[in-house]
Amino acid sequence: MKTLALVSQKGGAGKTTLALHLAVAAHRAGLQVAIADLDPQSSAWKWSERRREHPEAVVTSAEQLNHLQAQASAGGLDLLIIDSAPHADRPALVACKAADLVLIPCRASILDIDAIGQTHDLTTIARKPSWVVFNACNTSTEFDLEEARGGLQERGIPVYPRAIYQRVSFSRGFIPGKTAVEIEPGGRAATEVQDLFKWVAAEIGIEIPAPSSDIEAA
Ligand SMILES: Nc1ncnc2c1ncn2[C@@H]1O[C@H](COP(=O)(O)OP(=O)(O)OP(=O)(O)O)[C@@H](O)[C@H]1O
Ligand SMILES: [Mg+2]
Repeated sequence: MKTLALVSQKGGAGKTTLALHLAVAAHRAGLQVAIADLDPQSSAWKWSERRREHPEAVVTSAEQLNHLQAQASAGGLDLLIIDSAPHADRPALVACKAADLVLIPCRASILDIDAIGQTHDLTTIARKPSWVVFNACNTSTEFDLEEARGGLQERGIPVYPRAIYQRVSFSRGFIPGKTAVEIEPGGRAATEVQDLFKWVAAEIGIEIPAPSSDIEAA
């Protein structure tokens, strides 16, 4: 089993949004996946309660996370996705230590970029590979995004080569416990999530199962 953590000390960066979208993408790709909700706000768990179908989110704490991870692995899960809380150093460090790969969602604004160092330091302490993912980008600020990406890379902070843009379907899908890919299949948000998921799967070392038609044809 592999573990992916979404970590950012900054509130509202998109941890929960990306955790839930990646979990649904993994589930739809045929993987056994669950979400560990480490945030006392329990946003992921509340979404899961509205959803009432896979993938499921389970409430946990920094103290319980390693136990939950062991149980998930023993239960045959392929991927555990940790959604963590902002402004919480210790739980964030626990999440980083538990992870094989850490994604740091970041809005493309100078205030958010300035705050990245603190979160990146946690991944360095935990000795885990981490990538900043620019989220909720405005389509008209492509130039600034490139500049921001270059600036972070100069500081030795890797940045996901693509980006997730500000799209209504990312938040609208949450109301009925869905994600963008389910309410707007083939839409741009769905494509961005699919690209991110494929990239994460390759980076973390998870093989995406072939669709059953491919298996039959083989
Ligand atoms: N790409 C996006 N497009 C549109 N809305 C987005 C996008 N990403 C996040 N949002 C919205 O921004 C808000 C904050 O996102 P989210 O809750 O995922 O951030 P978070 O990092 O989990 O926040 P917290 O630190 O409070 O846990 C939510 O209302 C969410 O719907
Ligand atoms: Mg959240």
